[in-house]
Amino acid sequence: MTTPTKKKLRSTEWFGTADKNGFMYRSWMKNQGIPDHEFDGRPVIGICNTWSELTPCNAHFRKIAEHVKRGIYEAGGFPVEFPVFSNGESNLRPTAMLTRNLASMDVEEAIRGNPIDAVVLLVGCDKTTPALLMGAASCDVPAIVVTGGPMLNGKLDGKDIGSGTAVWRLHESLKAGEINEHQFFAAEAGMSRSAGTCNTMGTASTMACMAEALGTSLPHNAAIPAVDARRYVLAHMSGRRIVEMVHEDLRLSKILTREAFENAIRTNAAIGGSTNAVIHLKAIAGRIGVQLELEDWTRIGRGTPTLVDLQPSGRFLMEEFYYAGGLPAVLRRLGENQLLPHPNALTVNGKSLWDNVREAPQYNDEVIRPINKPLIADGGICILRGNLAPRGAVLKPSAASPELLKHRGRAVVFENLEHYKERIVDENLDIDASCVMVMKNCGPRGYPGMAEVGNMGLPPKLLRQGVKDMVRISDARMSGTAYGTVVLHVAPEAAAGGPLAAVRDGDFIELDCEQGRLHLDISEAELAQRMQALKNADMGGRGGYQRLYVDHVLQADEGCDFDFLVGCRGSAVPRHSH
Ligand code: FES
Repeated sequence: MTTPTKKKLRSTEWFGTADKNGFMYRSWMKNQGIPDHEFDGRPVIGICNTWSELTPCNAHFRKIAEHVKRGIYEAGGFPVEFPVFSNGESNLRPTAMLTRNLASMDVEEAIRGNPIDAVVLLVGCDKTTPALLMGAASCDVPAIVVTGGPMLNGKLDGKDIGSGTAVWRLHESLKAGEINEHQFFAAEAGMSRSAGTCNTMGTASTMACMAEALGTSLPHNAAIPAVDARRYVLAHMSGRRIVEMVHEDLRLSKILTREAFENAIRTNAAIGGSTNAVIHLKAIAGRIGVQLELEDWTRIGRGTPTLVDLQPSGRFLMEEFYYAGGLPAVLRRLGENQLLPHPNALTVNGKSLWDNVREAPQYNDEVIRPINKPLIADGGICILRGNLAPRGAVLKPSAASPELLKHRGRAVVFENLEHYKERIVDENLDIDASCVMVMKNCGPRGYPGMAEVGNMGLPPKLLRQGVKDMVRISDARMSGTAYGTVVLHVAPEAAAGGPLAAVRDGDFIELDCEQGRLHLDISEAELAQRMQALKNADMGGRGGYQRLYVDHVLQADEGCDFDFLVGCRGSAVPRHSH
């Protein structure tokens, strides 16, 4: 145990006085059967829970919270569990991304407004991880991430199938007539057969790895399966540790440094992580005052080998990843080859990232490849710029077809998602495999919420011919479980007056990943003329939260946070009436 600091705890401002206020704060809490001695000045630890039966990936979190509580009690803390908005990827319409910022506001205000000295963040499904880290970062209290863990491997016809990734493939096979509907439906139960998050290296697993690489969780947090008893041991130990972190005043700002984000960017390349990490890391960094740029992804990620052979880029699933050594084994491989940018970055257990992983065992070179036998020699996220994306766009080379990474093709344009759905099934659509599919108005404001629709399905008539991939460009995002030569996050988006809005059927577009270039092959004068003729996107007619969203959301290169939420506002309550 560490030596308690003499620093006054936040919670004593509520529970530590013998006057009317203290009476009120304690008395109402005592209606839950809490004895006097719990109010003796011990650290009060919030357990911020995204449990919900509508977020199936987080539906086992009440049990995880119980294990966190055991650890908190054991270390002399006072646990208080509280719910926050739970945005589950699979059910929530129009997209869970629309409510990431809403959840982060909920978290921030819940932490700041309550008698909490530190917080355990229970996260799992895609958006819950960035949302909770964003909210906690804006308060800058001691915080530790406990992830719910991935599902067991999916099974179909005796073979493993991966969450999400299998859906895309099965759906394309259905459209191409390779399987029937009975086979398609049979996959549903086999794909999701235990508690937990998607078992591919999708956005949930990526963000779990990001949390671990950032140093905000204990080692192995990312990969232990949700139903493995060791997941509950990790929850217990995280509960113990957060109490110590209060005594050490180990706040998020000491963990979430620029060095930590650089480690995370490098790690994302090594794991073949989701493009969504570009947006989420930027948003988290913005809340703690770290300035990340898109070019950081090129500078730090480029040239990094992808070592983890997981779907959608590779073969295996999260279960094998854990059995092979998990993220510590990857970080050790990076560190031993001088590829960990900041090995001395501090983590929540008080040790450096390198101290945590320097002796991490590695059990399977197929799943976690050696540096000289990578899955992809140059992994990472490719950042593109050009007259079509003046503020950037992204592409994940490890999920793309190598022969399409440099390509010039004729544009086939869809004005929005509805237009795409209507047009793509038209057997007379003038399109071939060399064309570039362009979709507009699916960005942060245009959709709104920037849906994961960038990996547009290919035209059925081309699928039947055996075409497997084409260049696709949009201002949308893509599920981390998806694949293809897909340019995403084009900024500014069409609905914010970006040049994407000016593309027309028949234009030629050049993509060059090596050069980081995305170019619409028309003259400057022609582009300027078309831009001038564009009408402002009509954002009217929306009320409620969607109104707030379209009025304040920042573009993809800025992390899609709200303009008024960027920054760290600390944990002091500005004004209180009791
Ligand atoms: Fe929740 Fe994939 S849908 S993690």
